Amino acid sequence: MDTGGQRGRFITLEGIEGAGKSTQVAPLVEALARSGIDAIATREPGGTPEAEAIRALLLDPAYRSLGKDAELLLVFAARAEHIEKVIRPALQRGRWVVCDRFTDATFAYQGAGRRIGSARIAVLEDWVQGELRPDLTLLLDLPVSTGQARIRGRSADRFEREGSAFFERVRATYLERAREAPERYRIIDASESPSATSAAIRRAVEHLMA
Ligand SMILES: Nc1ncnc2c1ncn2[C@@H]1O[C@H](COP(=O)(O)OP(=O)(O)O)[C@@H](O)[C@H]1O
Ligand SMILES: [Mg+2]
Repeated sequence: MDTGGQRGRFITLEGIEGAGKSTQVAPLVEALARSGIDAIATREPGGTPEAEAIRALLLDPAYRSLGKDAELLLVFAARAEHIEKVIRPALQRGRWVVCDRFTDATFAYQGAGRRIGSARIAVLEDWVQGELRPDLTLLLDLPVSTGQARIRGRSADRFEREGSAFFERVRATYLERAREAPERYRIIDASESPSATSAAIRRAVEHLMA
């Protein structure tokens, strides 16, 4: 129910594999809590039971022949569930939402990675999200080789099996989107230690807390 209070803020974490997105979600939510802000942590694809089932399909290397249009539509199918059941209700109650990946990842992975035109993705973005856009996107940036070295050893999902050319396109597209909309993005140097990265993230979020 809408309490009539202020809408919560919507913060997304983006970046290539191994950037430290999943590592940084909890420290950010804890930092917000210390400032008296009630925030939830969630992720994409996923965030509801149905969307997590779609995530499992998207990441499962057994489905390596899944077509790129089906992949794109599944990403947005999961997103529609996540927005309706989790993100919008939380924001309407005044809670902040910290999300590990969101639509920037779709432009980067399905757009640049799989080479689907961004205009086509923008149509789905408008359709599924309406006016909803992140208030702040933290782009955890680091060299592809550094990210790859960090995830070496964990069993690679359907995306992590892509080669470095794919991830170079993904990284370049994230950086290009950040440069095109500097008011929404903060680029974080993610090659530093986890605690240095957490501190940079806290500084990048401060302006929203005022
Ligand atoms: N700043 C960091 N420096 C070194 N290793 C890190 C750092 N941040 C995360 N890691 C480690 O790198 C791996 C990938 O981190 P993760 O948070 O899962 O990245 P992502 O979610 O962006 O793919 C994990 O093993 C994690 O412990
Ligand atoms: Mg992760």
